[in-house]
Amino acid sequence: MRVGVLTGGGDCPGLNAVIRAIVRKGVQEYGYDFVGFRDGWRGPLEGDTVRLDIPAVRGILPRGGTILGSSRTNPLKTGNGIPRIRQTLAELDVTALITIGGEDTLGVAGRLADEHGVPCVGVPKTIDNDLSATDYTFGFDTAVSIATEAIDRLHTTAESHMRVLVVEVMGRHAGWIALHSGLAGGANAILIPEQRFDVDRVCDWVTSRFRASYAPIVVVAEGAMPEDGDMVLKDRSLDSFGHVRLSGVGEWLAKEIEKRTGNEARTTVLGHVQRGGTPSAFDRWLATRFGLHAIDCVRDADFGTMVALRGTDIVRVPIAEATARLKTVDPELYDEVGVFFG
Ligand code: F6P
Repeated sequence: MRVGVLTGGGDCPGLNAVIRAIVRKGVQEYGYDFVGFRDGWRGPLEGDTVRLDIPAVRGILPRGGTILGSSRTNPLKTGNGIPRIRQTLAELDVTALITIGGEDTLGVAGRLADEHGVPCVGVPKTIDNDLSATDYTFGFDTAVSIATEAIDRLHTTAESHMRVLVVEVMGRHAGWIALHSGLAGGANAILIPEQRFDVDRVCDWVTSRFRASYAPIVVVAEGAMPEDGDMVLKDRSLDSFGHVRLSGVGEWLAKEIEKRTGNEARTTVLGHVQRGGTPSAFDRWLATRFGLHAIDCVRDADFGTMVALRGTDIVRVPIAEATARLKTVDPELYDEVGVFFG
């Protein structure tokens, strides 16, 4: 049996650990062979493949990124996308396809499996942790650790100059990275997309922090918006690939804080550093377990299925369950953390 593997969407620490687990168990226990598709859905669309065997996965467990490459190509938005994928799979004699991705990549996999009978198995990945049906996605823990370390460092420079430090973190439309790293890093305000923020209230927290002779740290998720959202939204544009550029709120907020409180403020946008480099031990553990279970789904011909973490167990869920809606931060959880603000 020949199994195809692809990684789609934004890269994320742990992708190589999944690929390694799939290939090692698939070859050693089930005698399968593998084809790697390059750059997400672009690979099967264009028949662009890469060798994927035991030597190809040797030494990749701690490596960030993905040996298969990634892209945001969407075959449902590409002319003749579905027939082209079918044709590639048939020509290469690939009878199962493991798709490792986030909302977009898995959304395609779910539809290909459910509506077109393409034998897909899904593995959830994203640093944003916003996929429903799984408690955690790998990549998130690493991103939170990187952001937390940055916040720790920013505390000391903020204190030395008695400045406000605004730290903008990733997460797209979800505030998980902001919430977890802000809490772990002892931030004085955490602003998330799920709840619009009141700039005056943030300024009050900043002022009260200065009164107590501390320099405030404000963690803002890239998707967060003030109550008067237009101020930031007008700065958000589409890039040449049609993706919304979310960053900008941190810079905007620092200027507002300076204007309204008279305190000096600086912004640090952490950006892609949160996605790069070696995965944490937890992410390697989770990614490896996902890979081992994904190849079992193939063995069982359990297609249209995604592996997911529930508590400490890896379970199987319909891919559509994970992509039907985003998993966002619960207001009660956000309120619980609010006790530390100011
Ligand atoms: O979904 C992962 C993510 O890193 C988001 O947190 C961020 O908004 C987006 O991808 C950035 O995308 P790109 O790498 O295309 O700039």
